[in-house]
Amino acid sequence: MGGGRGLTTRATLTAMRIGDILFDSPFLLAPLAGVSDSPFRRLAREQGASGVVTEMVSADGLVRGQKATLEYCRFEPQERPIGVQLFGADPGVMADAAGALCALPPRERPDWIDVNMGCPVRKVVNRGAGAALLTDLPLLSEIVQRMTRASTLPVTAKIRLGWDGNSSNVVEVARALEGAGAQAVVIHARTRAEKFGGEARWELIGEAKRAVGIPVIGNGDVRVPEDAVRMLETTGCDGVMLGRAVFGDPWIFRRVRAFWERGERLPLPTAAERLGAGLRHLRLLAEWAGPAAATREMRKHVAWYVKGLSHSARVREQANHTRTVDELTMLLRGYLDELERRGPETFAEPLPPEAPGPPAASVDDPARPEAPHAAR
Ligand SMILES: Cc1cc2nc3c(=O)[nH]c(=O)nc-3n(C[C@H](O)[C@H](O)[C@H](O)COP(=O)(O)O)c2cc1C
Repeated sequence: MGGGRGLTTRATLTAMRIGDILFDSPFLLAPLAGVSDSPFRRLAREQGASGVVTEMVSADGLVRGQKATLEYCRFEPQERPIGVQLFGADPGVMADAAGALCALPPRERPDWIDVNMGCPVRKVVNRGAGAALLTDLPLLSEIVQRMTRASTLPVTAKIRLGWDGNSSNVVEVARALEGAGAQAVVIHARTRAEKFGGEARWELIGEAKRAVGIPVIGNGDVRVPEDAVRMLETTGCDGVMLGRAVFGDPWIFRRVRAFWERGERLPLPTAAERLGAGLRHLRLLAEWAGPAAATREMRKHVAWYVKGLSHSARVREQANHTRTVDELTMLLRGYLDELERRGPETFAEPLPPEAPGPPAASVDDPARPEAPHAAR
């Protein structure tokens, strides 16, 4: 893994493995509540993400067989390899949830099971789940041990550096996870206290990597292809997960791969490509989740797809008032025509460095069904 950008080709057949799962590049789509649903995961895989993870799913809801929770675990074959991410704090429930996923018919069974140990949202940590697990290593170990015993699939964990600046225990946590049977660890290089602020501290990904034998996947603040390659090279990590940089830009995986494989810098998508993808995304969402949910869910994606284009504020505003798939389709088509009349417009600059943070509404508003703490 890693290597200079002077290379003309790279052996990409198996760039990373987790258990028996082979990934053809080190670059994966991060779990993103409210974003990484099946249609978006398909777009990311089409553009070269080597693996994807579902939004976080409640282990409790899964064990109770709640329909809404099971919906979050559904996927299409072309999304593979795919991990389902569970959150919870009760080892028995987590083990039962892992068992339930393994008992699904092969077609519906994911390729691996990830445990959320990084969610900073109060409603999650107050229940002892998400990042709260980083403060209780015996519990964290018991959860993973019982899940691996109950599971025929690899179990992985996605963690943060620790609870806060003074308790950055990422090396101990990574060792505990390996000892408990986790087959890989994803590290978002911030503490819980840092939420999404400040800069990710990649050097601690490197420390954790040197301390364990299982694959380490780095995460945090990868915004452009150069970042992804630099993370691999400077930390020695085995894979890289991209989160906010994919908002409105699934093509980033193609650009990252071209740069990593051949040192080639692919151009940014044109306005027409962005709007075309928006229209297709809307269609996929409507087929997947129904027209009402698609219209609602698509608003944030529209805002991301049009970001940086002329008069995009107006389109964003109008998108927020559309009530049907047809209205939203007409809005996007009309905007595309308008841009084409003005001449082909491309993005001259990479996506803004201040990649959008978690929309406050999607992490803190209990009314929103996609809020990470909602029972899923
Ligand atoms: C809107 C949003 C939703 C997220 N949902 C999840 C989630 O469900 N599970 C998880 O482990 N991390 C979640 N994260 C964290 C991301 O996976 C990732 O660790 C974080 O955004 C840092 O990576 P980035 O700088 O590439 O965005 C979420 C982040 C955002 C912005």
